[in-house]
Amino acid sequence: MADRELHRGLEGIAVAETRLSSIDGERGELVIGGFPVEGLATRATYEESVFLLLNDRLPTAAELDSFRTELAGYRTLSEEVEQVLRRAARENVDAMDALRMGVAAANLGVDATEPTEPTEAREYAKRLVSVIPTIVATYWRYRSGDAPVEPREDLGHAANYLYMLSGDEPDPAAVRGLETYLNTVVDHGLNASTFVARSITSSESDLVSAVTGAVGSLKGPLHGGAPGPVLEMLLTVYESGDPEGYLQETLDAGERLMGFGHRVYRTRDPRATVLSGAAERFYADAGDEAFFDFVEGFEARAVSRLAEHKPDRPLETNVEFYTAVLLYGVGIPRELFTATFAVSRVGGWVAHCLEQMADNRIVRPLSVYVGDRGRTWTPVDEREATNSPKASTE
Ligand code: COA
Repeated sequence: MADRELHRGLEGIAVAETRLSSIDGERGELVIGGFPVEGLATRATYEESVFLLLNDRLPTAAELDSFRTELAGYRTLSEEVEQVLRRAARENVDAMDALRMGVAAANLGVDATEPTEPTEAREYAKRLVSVIPTIVATYWRYRSGDAPVEPREDLGHAANYLYMLSGDEPDPAAVRGLETYLNTVVDHGLNASTFVARSITSSESDLVSAVTGAVGSLKGPLHGGAPGPVLEMLLTVYESGDPEGYLQETLDAGERLMGFGHRVYRTRDPRATVLSGAAERFYADAGDEAFFDFVEGFEARAVSRLAEHKPDRPLETNVEFYTAVLLYGVGIPRELFTATFAVSRVGGWVAHCLEQMADNRIVRPLSVYVGDRGRTWTPVDEREATNSPKASTE
């Protein structure tokens, strides 16, 4: 099969049908559950977005009320998961690693045999959506040397997350800013982590395994790990007051500008547009227009520099650029940016897993073998140290 066509990174290959979200990379359009992202993100609560993904329609007032109550009831952690997080914080484990450990243990004390049939798995889906903010916040409290803050059932999902992080009554402008973020990034086609979640589900494995794997995928800097470095870049340049110097130096060194470029979008990422609007409102309300004005100016310079740098490849602002700006504004610690992405994206992951369960075919792509063939076996004591290119690394 030497003539097998290779699709590196599965680029351009469709492997699943979905009703959850649709991306038009040429036009820069994103539709989530039938709604343009611009129409959904600033209006919905996160609970409405998750209901939409799980049910393919918006809830009525009564349905939303009972969905909120149900989610709020799943927020607490078992003693064992708290212990894992306490230990992870004490060892200065990265937030995404702590989240992976917390999620992997999330069915301890609940039920050892997790269902893999869609109707019953829906309960686990809701449980995972509810418990992830508590895992992140509990880890963060331990990491900061504070006692965890128990979740409050009277608060909405976004407000409760902010409350568990700080222990303070959440500010409504921060809640709205965070909620807009959570809705904006809740689902985005078959991105790397969602593909991982669907692949794990496709072997008839369970949701906890799928979400644990997805957390691992999201952690990488090419996927969910970019907003932390974006914030560092912005704060450095804000302080130095020399954006042109920074851009020149970074691009001359052959480095990538974090927060720009995308595998699918050839325009500005529509989520960047939604989040920049939300950030602008937030910073204006907070009376900190100066930082936001600087950010907008930096973005424009960066895009024009990138156009000179790579004239054949449109490199525009991606979601992570304004994620960093908005999350910084609403008070999410920089170390939790990627974990906060997971707080949102778990809604998309579990909805995709349920879709996969309902119409499953095991994910099994091909590989193109480029290794040797027909080697002759040599007994171990007759082998030369250099008989394989990899032998010397042992
Ligand atoms: N800054 C500078 N150059 C960039 C760039 C960036 N942010 N993004 C891509 N490029 C360049 C690459 O160096 C490459 O140039 P080459 O052909 O001379 O090697 C070319 O553009 C194509 O890049 P490629 O890596 O093939 O694109 P991709 O589709 O595989 O990758 C990203 C997409 C998002 C991984 C990539 O744009 C990137 O690394 N961006 C920065 C990290 C980031 O913001 N991640 C969050 C994504 S939402």
